[in-house]
Amino acid sequence: MKLLVVGGGGREHAIIKKLKENPEVEKIFALPGNGGIAADAECVPIGAKDIPAIVAFAVEQQVDYAVVAPDDPLVLGAVDALNEKGVPCFGPTAAAAQIEGSKVFAKDLMKKYGIPTAAYESFDDAAAALRYLDTAEMPIVVKADGLALGKGVIIAQTREEARQAVISMMEEGMFGQSGSRVVIEEFLTGPEVSVLSFTDGETVVPMVSSMDHKRARDNDQGLNTGGMGTVAPNPYYTEAIAAQCMEEIFLPTIRAMKAEGRPFRGCLYFGLMLTPKGPKVIEYNCRFGDPETQVVLPLLESDLLTVMRSTTEGTLAQTEVKFSDKSACCVILASEGYPQKYQSGFEMTIAPEALPHAFVAGAKLADGKLLTSGGRVIGLTAVEDTLPQAIDRAYTLTGMVHFENAYCRRDIGARAMKAFKEA
Ligand code: AMP
Ligand code: GLY
Repeated sequence: MKLLVVGGGGREHAIIKKLKENPEVEKIFALPGNGGIAADAECVPIGAKDIPAIVAFAVEQQVDYAVVAPDDPLVLGAVDALNEKGVPCFGPTAAAAQIEGSKVFAKDLMKKYGIPTAAYESFDDAAAALRYLDTAEMPIVVKADGLALGKGVIIAQTREEARQAVISMMEEGMFGQSGSRVVIEEFLTGPEVSVLSFTDGETVVPMVSSMDHKRARDNDQGLNTGGMGTVAPNPYYTEAIAAQCMEEIFLPTIRAMKAEGRPFRGCLYFGLMLTPKGPKVIEYNCRFGDPETQVVLPLLESDLLTVMRSTTEGTLAQTEVKFSDKSACCVILASEGYPQKYQSGFEMTIAPEALPHAFVAGAKLADGKLLTSGGRVIGLTAVEDTLPQAIDRAYTLTGMVHFENAYCRRDIGARAMKAFKEA
């Protein structure tokens, strides 16, 4: 079988390594992939948003199955375009990807179908948004409607900060078109849990839960990043909470999307907050999360390709999806300065022992050497019997990777350990 994976980060590397475990897979193309992914797939310099070129390549190479991993091409209709040419594909259509592509769409869907989420108002007029803020309670959360590279959410402690967020999004065009509409919502509190799920539009199978670490620095200080590390499972996500989420959130969402004529197939990511009033949806993503995927897929014991194809073919209910009961920890090595200004182009070495655990996010190949090329450079994942062992081993693995200006958080998993002790 010939496969094609669209994207080029740590998530895609984790997907590709898992797909390769299937002996029927002869070849994987990564579009565009990266210098680290090149060890596991043939990288083709086609951008993840260049849908006509992706489709032309898939047709020319007669690929048997495609996986579209990032949000942008999904929202832009990559799956629709591939399907039109007869290429079967993992991921939602553009209509279904709106669940991430538009926060207004997602919030209105939850309101209509009674799915628990933060109370909110949406605005397409800055003056009305500002008037609303005059009497709203602080803190409050201001969100750009569209995709904004994970930066479109501002938690405002004061009225002035909230006003500034509205002005920069709606009047100064900080996120372009994505900020022309905003959602202003209630500030919630509680532990956060990421639950990725497989769904074929009828059946939904949650994967093992995970915990992201979004801030750049230890103790959740510093700026928001794409994620500096993850652990799985998430100790806050008990069996009782999982059952409640299935009844109140997962199944209602899948049914709602079907009822709206936008059946969701692929990976639906539920970003949850376990509030004192029960689990609520903070956000939906129409794709695998990164770096969540780097802990979740190493724990998957079933064949990923079989599971993915069952979501396309509508046979998920008859397909086994089994996860290990071990624990996983992923620590991201980033370029010092990320998520703001950072230098790259430094040579990276990875000890052979760490290679099977390494998911490369930002590196390119030059004369046979790996050079850093991004903010997040590499994720190192350990799977062990217990969480403390996994954390320990993941940090040992980071010591086997070298490049100038590398930094990582030293406390990935610490919050999860604390939760275990409290329980
Ligand atoms: P996002 O960019 O959608 O992943 O959101 C970034 C982060 O903002 C989330 O992981 C939460 O920590 C936080 N957040 C989003 N919405 C809320 C909310 N209504 N209340 C409190 N925190 C929130
Ligand atoms: N780690 C959060 C995300 O992928 O959006």
